[in-house]
Amino acid sequence: MYNLQQRANVLFSFAITAIGTILALVATISSISGYPCIESDIKVDSNTLRVVSRRYGPDYYDYGTPKSHFARLAFDLDADFTPIFNWNTKQVFVTVIAEYESKTHDRNSVVLWDTIIKSKEEANLNLRNIANKYALVDVSRKWSHQQANLSLHWDVTPYVGLIQGGHTPSQPANIILSPAAT
Ligand SMILES: *[C@@H]1O[C@H](CO)[C@@H](O)[C@H](O)[C@H]1NC(C)=O
Repeated sequence: MYNLQQRANVLFSFAITAIGTILALVATISSISGYPCIESDIKVDSNTLRVVSRRYGPDYYDYGTPKSHFARLAFDLDADFTPIFNWNTKQVFVTVIAEYESKTHDRNSVVLWDTIIKSKEEANLNLRNIANKYALVDVSRKWSHQQANLSLHWDVTPYVGLIQGGHTPSQPANIILSPAAT
């Protein structure tokens, strides 16, 4: 005969094994089924594009360095992330990335803006006139008429399983990064 403690122990370890198996199954199903690709439309109003000359970093810092060229712009973004929200989607991290070639580097990527979508109800983005949240500055700190492309990237955080992501193709977006007028 088993006593009560042995019975409880057997029941507990069975429950743990069952939960572990279910979570592993959920992770496997989510990674096999994946998430659909999203189409997006990002439009830059070229009238909003300005390149200004500022010191990089706080004013008290490094007075010796010459000024840097910061680009400012505003864009409209339409992208519907609703299809990505299924039973195992916790949140979606979305970034808008600018890519360009420069004399010294073939591929440069700069994050312009990001957001976190936490529910299906807020997943259909129709945003107007968004300013870049992060500084658009080249490593050389100067612009010399680079043409930039934009693309939208996303990472899906599931409740259980691995983070999966996707992105739209890099597309020319009406952005020419000219030197700042001095
Ligand atoms: C910009 O987009 C065009 C067309 O999709 C592509 O051919 C080009 O390689 C892209 N440039 C960069 C720097 O990603």
